[in-house]
Amino acid sequence: MKIRKAVIPVAGLGTRFLPASKAIPKEMLTIVDRPTIQYIVEEVVASGIEVIVFITSQGKSAIENHFDYDFQLDTILRQKNKLDLCEEICHISNLIDIISVRQKKPLGLGHAIWTAKNVIGNEPFLVLLGDDLVLSDTPCCQQMLNLYDEFQESVIAIQQVPESETHLYGIVEGESVRSGLHRVDRLMEKPAPGTTDSNRAIIGRYLLHPEIFDILEQTTPGHGGEIQLTDALQALAKKRSMYAYEFQGTRFDAGDKLGYLKAILAFALRHPTLSGEFKKHLKQVCATL
Ligand code: G1P
Repeated sequence: MKIRKAVIPVAGLGTRFLPASKAIPKEMLTIVDRPTIQYIVEEVVASGIEVIVFITSQGKSAIENHFDYDFQLDTILRQKNKLDLCEEICHISNLIDIISVRQKKPLGLGHAIWTAKNVIGNEPFLVLLGDDLVLSDTPCCQQMLNLYDEFQESVIAIQQVPESETHLYGIVEGESVRSGLHRVDRLMEKPAPGTTDSNRAIIGRYLLHPEIFDILEQTTPGHGGEIQLTDALQALAKKRSMYAYEFQGTRFDAGDKLGYLKAILAFALRHPTLSGEFKKHLKQVCATL
């Protein structure tokens, strides 16, 4: 079955980014020349997905507005003959169809995904977490879709992390299928140190079988008192095959202050018009360190 829809939860409070995220959604913080959420949406679009479902909450309307058509701005830019800018702004609103669903209570990531149940229906779908930016030649989602074509089962993107960081992630245990691909046996959300030998961490890209919705409905609060997607994935992995995939590319945790700075640097160095001058400046800065 063709995968047509992607869910992007953006309801979180963004406490790791306070005070910057006090009055604006953290997803709207800029990386070079566009908000972080636009990179996520562009990855989805580049992977051929047709519909995005944002899971939102109060105070997140700036995200929906960003992807909407702005008649007033369009008119003013046209009057001023700023047609290039006009085209760029219109391009954002024409990227893809967007549906918003409200998560009415902050009960956790699993609950956020569950709220998309009626919009997704009985189709496999993608989930992208807004904090995780991936720089890669082939979009991370596209890499996962290619695996789905091969196995027709759920795929979770993973990367190896230092043992000292495993307690910060969902961790996957499993057997190797081939280089970079594992069949999932067990998943744990933010395991306490010493409780797993695995260092394979879930990053925010999932391709899920719709059976996850029935499981989420039964999932009780787990780590941090929240309904965890990882716990539901553990139940799904018992019913159907699930694959953990070491994606090709570099992932940045843009929801963390240092990760955000690293992302700005990496994206600036790849920017089509700014990278040349930026590299020169960086060399000068490095020489003074
Ligand atoms: C979430 C997931 C976790 C995953 C992480 C990736 O955690 O629950 O399994 O490893 O995203 O970014 P969060 O960082 O939202 O606490």
